Amino acid sequence: MNPIEAKLEEALNKVLVPGIMRSLVQMNLVRNAEIKDGKVKITLASTAISAEYHDWLKDKAVAAVRELSGVKEVTVDLVEAKPKELNQIERIIAVMSGKGGVGKSLVVSLLATSFARQGKDVGILDADITGPSIPKMFGLNARPSGSETGILPILSRSGIEIMSMNLLLPSEDEAVIWRGPLMSKAITQFWEEVVWGKLDYLIIDLPPGTGDAPLTVLQAIPISGVIDVFTPQELTEMIVKKAVRMAQKMNVRVLGVVENMSYLVLPETGKKLEIFGRSKGEEMAKASGAPLLGRLPLDPELAKLCDEGKIEKYSSDAVSELFANVVAALNGKSEG
Ligand SMILES: Nc1ncnc2c1ncn2[C@@H]1O[C@H](COP(=O)(O)OP(=O)(O)OP(=O)(O)O)[C@@H](O)[C@H]1O
Ligand SMILES: [Mg+2]
Repeated sequence: MNPIEAKLEEALNKVLVPGIMRSLVQMNLVRNAEIKDGKVKITLASTAISAEYHDWLKDKAVAAVRELSGVKEVTVDLVEAKPKELNQIERIIAVMSGKGGVGKSLVVSLLATSFARQGKDVGILDADITGPSIPKMFGLNARPSGSETGILPILSRSGIEIMSMNLLLPSEDEAVIWRGPLMSKAITQFWEEVVWGKLDYLIIDLPPGTGDAPLTVLQAIPISGVIDVFTPQELTEMIVKKAVRMAQKMNVRVLGVVENMSYLVLPETGKKLEIFGRSKGEEMAKASGAPLLGRLPLDPELAKLCDEGKIEKYSSDAVSELFANVVAALNGKSEG
């Protein structure tokens, strides 16, 4: 990129896409921007932007670029592009579990928040179509905007892009009773028809188990690695093993396992109490042939923040350690 093109990009990076507080550049809607003899030609994708905003967006882009020195004339053209062509995602992590209620969504939310705190661009694809809980943890209930050509995610308080069935249903309490094929289709649509734009990380919250839906995700989406969550309550290693084996069968890398509700820290003494029995972390790691990425305590503060939709406020040493190990695993290093 030459200096003047960099200036153009910088200017367009200040123009926010209607419906989401991210810029044209961040959403990867700038298809082309060139300057010749003071004449700037910009091509923008109008994907997921409803027609009523088209002229408004053009005007904004013109205004942002006209400020630049040496610019005499600006034209902006809109083109159609498929969301998939616009999505430029560096790494995709899927979080799964053998059974329900073990803290998958929680791990997804904490990891996304950790990435966001580091200034990374991160998104969450809630692939739990029938039991979506991500929007609740982040306290979100806005409806995503879009057009016939695509749909935009909702932005969380800390700037995490989120797409979930929950955001699309008429009421938050509405139950989704769908069969496998329909569910698979919904997940594929979250992948193919949502404009995620440029992201460093996309984290996918899978429904529990090893059924159709997680299978679809592993097949249809180029996953960099999966993380398997379990609790010490789990009676056998079989469940964890089954989930891990499914990933391996699909040739998807298992980044590691996470033990949630591993212990309780006694407030008076700071002592760790393993209320559900001794940690199974090492056993599970061994059984699945992947490292133990972390152990999260049962923390009343965590439960409270989940209920209040303020998960982004949580931080702890256990989460920092988990996060560091996930990053290390992604970069191909073993944990430690
Ligand atoms: N370590 C923890 N400390 C305190 N509360 C927790 C912890 N982990 C999970 N919870 C509570 O349990 C609830 C369920 O967790 P979560 O939704 O992450 O599980 P899940 O595996 O995604 O469930 P599902 O299978 O239904 O999708 C959370 O809303 C939270 O209130
Ligand atoms: Mg969940």
